[in-house]
Amino acid sequence: MKTYIIGNWKMNFTVGESSLFLHKLLQKVPSYRDIETVVIPSLIAIQSLSLQTDRRKIKLGCQNFYHQDFGAYTGEVSIAQVRSLVDYAIVGHSERRYIFNESDKDIRAKVAAALRGGLTPILCIGETEAERKDGETADVLRDQLLGGLGDVSAEDISKVIVAYEPVWAISGHGKATVASPLDVKDAFKLIRKILKETYGKETAEETALLFGGSVKSTNAESYLLLDDCSGLLIGGASLIASEFTDIIEIAKRVKDERP
Ligand code: PGA
Repeated sequence: MKTYIIGNWKMNFTVGESSLFLHKLLQKVPSYRDIETVVIPSLIAIQSLSLQTDRRKIKLGCQNFYHQDFGAYTGEVSIAQVRSLVDYAIVGHSERRYIFNESDKDIRAKVAAALRGGLTPILCIGETEAERKDGETADVLRDQLLGGLGDVSAEDISKVIVAYEPVWAISGHGKATVASPLDVKDAFKLIRKILKETYGKETAEETALLFGGSVKSTNAESYLLLDDCSGLLIGGASLIASEFTDIIEIAKRVKDERP
């Protein structure tokens, strides 16, 4: 399985700044066959960036979309409209769940729409600090995972990426606590167990599990070394070219050293 290094730019950069930043990345980012590098700009920048990028080096994703293909949905953008521009789509990010009140039902419809459109959904799941303190982590992860995957068949499960993103570890919303590799290992173990129970042992092994939440070049290796870790979803550090490229190099080194 490839290692995914995915940068979520969130609501940062103008179209011009996005283009300049991608230009910088294209010059710095090496192209490794076993590392999949993806950047996820603001929706408004994806068309120009899709013309600018070299997909062998850097692929694109979208941060959000509506699950219907076309119609009277003012202000929305569909998978049918972005599918030729991007390869990946983030679904169920905690900022969408908690700031924009997206439910598991909305998220399930989006996962299905992304698959229908031939994009790889990156389903984000993770507990809040309060849920963790109350010992609800396992229940929340189960609910969000099965809630989001409700319409995904065993045949399609290998086309979905699952990102464990504990809300308390995500930067940009006040204080964020850095998750320990052990916290992440436990969550991955649980996610894999649920996938196995739902889809069968072999099929469940094919689903890539990523970690996200305050990942930087200084801690990336500790997560990438986890057996079950197929990559990282990076917010803040993906806005700094040197950080992002350093993380790609770390991922390559970890991959090469893995037995
Ligand atoms: P962060 O964001 O790396 O800035 O914590 C991660 C994410 O929200 O995907």
